[in-house]
Amino acid sequence: MTDKLTLVLGGTGKTGRRVAARLQERGIAVRIGARSTSPSFDWTDEATWAAALENVDRVYVCFQPDLASPGAVDTMRRFSALAVHAGIKRLVLLSGRGEDEAEAAERALQASGADWTIIRASWFFENFSEGFLADGIVGGSVYLPTDAVTEPFISCDDIADVAVAALLDDGHVGKVYSLTGPRLMTFADAVAEIAAAANRRISYQSVPVDDFAAQLKGDGVPDDYVALIRYLFTSVLDGRNSHLTSDVEHVLGRRPRDFADYARETAATDVWSLAA
Ligand SMILES: NC(=O)c1ccc[n+]([C@@H]2O[C@H](COP(=O)([O-])OP(=O)(O)OC[C@H]3O[C@@H](n4cnc5c(N)ncnc54)[C@H](OP(=O)(O)O)[C@@H]3O)[C@@H](O)[C@H]2O)c1
Repeated sequence: MTDKLTLVLGGTGKTGRRVAARLQERGIAVRIGARSTSPSFDWTDEATWAAALENVDRVYVCFQPDLASPGAVDTMRRFSALAVHAGIKRLVLLSGRGEDEAEAAERALQASGADWTIIRASWFFENFSEGFLADGIVGGSVYLPTDAVTEPFISCDDIADVAVAALLDDGHVGKVYSLTGPRLMTFADAVAEIAAAANRRISYQSVPVDDFAAQLKGDGVPDDYVALIRYLFTSVLDGRNSHLTSDVEHVLGRRPRDFADYARETAATDVWSLAA
């Protein structure tokens, strides 16, 4: 195909790790881009970008912490311009659904002149096992500032399959995909399904967003991250995303994974057991 590398940003994280593994299984040479890799890549340190982009012809762009964060539009504009200058042909961007601010960052990348695909994803299943909700699940109680709003949680495996298709197949250039799982669930529903699969008692409690933010602040979480969490749980989780799409099926020709399968398979790994 090409002797150039595919750069997978966030390549040690929930989606990036899966994207990199799928590419490597197909014999495609990959460079993982993260602060912990060599060369290291840091979104907050532009001096690290050029080395990561060397000898690369396509990039999976997984931003941190979120495209709706202050400064993300400018960062995306500067990063994608540098990528095009370095000869990169294709950029596949992971974004969120229903985030107006993130769409401005998407447009900055779209204007770069590279071939692009935008993947707007729902909340990941894996937030409960590899992300910020895992500790609560293991500890037996989850508190979040959300109650009855439903979300079509999605598997990072499905996101990675779509990202790989977009990186490798020309038919996805210029497309904006909105990816959802097959079912609308509340966070309480998700925790209950995990508890059943893990054969554990795990409580779920909805708390006022101000109390939740104060707790995070008290735990030493930086102000900008607290602001992001507040934004995600109020502006984005207000019901605007409580609908399903068929884009996973459209791209992959199969139904998205169901949360029950994820819960059963993850419970079998013991990551949610108290002794783990
Ligand atoms: N989680 C969700 O449900 C969800 C849903 C829709 C969209 N998204 C979007 O998906 C993206 C990633 O999501 P995530 O929070 O779940 O994280 P993640 O991809 O699981 O993990 C973070 C990855 O980014 C790297 N990283 C962290 N800080 C970095 C920095 N300053 N510069 C470069 N790399 C950095 C980490 O490696 P190092 O620590 O080694 O740097 C790791 O590889 C975000 O843009 C988010 O908005 C997430």
